[in-house]
Amino acid sequence: ADVFTYDPGFTSTASCQSAITYIDGEAGILLHRGYPIDQLAENSTFMEVSYLLLNGELPNRAELEKFTHTITRHTMLHEQLATFYRGFRRDAHPMAIMCGVVGALSAFYHDSTDITDPEQRMIASHRLIAKMPTIAAMAYKYSIGQPFLYPQNNLSYTGNFLRMTFGVPAEPYEVNPIIERAMRRIFILHADHEQNASTSTVRLAGSSGANPFACIAAGIACLWGPAHGGANEAALNMLREIGRPEHIPEYIARAKDKDDPFRLMGFGHRVYKNFDPRAKVMKATADEVLKELNIVDPVLDVAKELEQIALHDDYFIEKKLYPNVDFYSGVILSAIGFPTSMFTALFALARTVGWVAQWNEMIADPDQKIGRPRQLYTGATQRDYVPVDQR
Ligand code: CMC
Repeated sequence: ADVFTYDPGFTSTASCQSAITYIDGEAGILLHRGYPIDQLAENSTFMEVSYLLLNGELPNRAELEKFTHTITRHTMLHEQLATFYRGFRRDAHPMAIMCGVVGALSAFYHDSTDITDPEQRMIASHRLIAKMPTIAAMAYKYSIGQPFLYPQNNLSYTGNFLRMTFGVPAEPYEVNPIIERAMRRIFILHADHEQNASTSTVRLAGSSGANPFACIAAGIACLWGPAHGGANEAALNMLREIGRPEHIPEYIARAKDKDDPFRLMGFGHRVYKNFDPRAKVMKATADEVLKELNIVDPVLDVAKELEQIALHDDYFIEKKLYPNVDFYSGVILSAIGFPTSMFTALFALARTVGWVAQWNEMIADPDQKIGRPRQLYTGATQRDYVPVDQR
């Protein structure tokens, strides 16, 4: 019989060659197309980073203007999709709505589902990046019973999203530049992360030739889990449950207890074994946003204290567990006014550009074949069927 390498969780299997994102987990380095994540988060815009991830280079001014124009042309949703939202319960989780609506896009945009046509692939990519803020904002509006707001293309990518989320038709909406900058950073920090579970899911779905909308819906489904994108929601819920710094030791003890399935959410990473460079930027942003918005949230104190205690605890040191990107993001999102249920939806929104870039890279790769892992069979050997009354 064939013998296969057993690698559960793919801890030592490279599934593809990629030129998009580089991570050195030991050194805490994350580069997109060679550019360090902290430089991009500090200086760049989400449109620039999107162009970079998709095309390999930072755009010049003319290229950036053209790209931004193309994206804004696609920000509206087919009007019929509003009816689709109305089929959901008002208390539906936004991620459930996102999986459904994004999966349904292929039924609305037939002219961008032929994956053999590079031009259609690019149109689908632009559509996905452009429509995700509209889709996420509509999921939120639906949950609180407010009217959907159409996109406004003179605003930035993040400004437009904030307005569609927090604006109402009855009055003008002023984008707060501090919040806009924080959101931009959060989006950039989540834009791509090489072959994580949801990106691998997108690639695997895409390897069968499925249309891009279906592939991204698969990615959203995978991202939802608490070990992946769902960690931002779980981390803030955990910090709120801890409530006061005095309760931290109890939770640390639970996280260390082998018989307790509890984990410190927002801690640990498959690849980063030193620190997560995204977490550093996120922590600084949390401080900045709360200070500038004049918000005192005890949850930030709990987060900082928890980080300090864990970083000095033998268990966490020995297992190389550090705060990850999701540890502080919830504190910021909550200060901005998002309910926890929207956190993972925002991650999905931002990660869409990474998924789309990775999907395009895969389709264009001459080595590409259908992803089809093998297994080590552990079941019964061959035996004969026994009629039911003889069992
Ligand atoms: N709290 C307590 N113990 C932990 C934690 C944690 N957060 N994370 C890992 N460990 C322990 C784990 O019990 C295991 O111990 P042992 O070797 O004794 O069995 C050891 O550390 C290694 O953990 P693992 O689960 O084998 O490592 P992994 O690489 O498979 O998992 C992870 C990585 C991110 C799923 C995991 O660290 C985790 O569940 N963290 C909490 C969820 C979280 O914050 N996820 C967000 C990841 S970053 C954003 C994203 O990419 O989506």
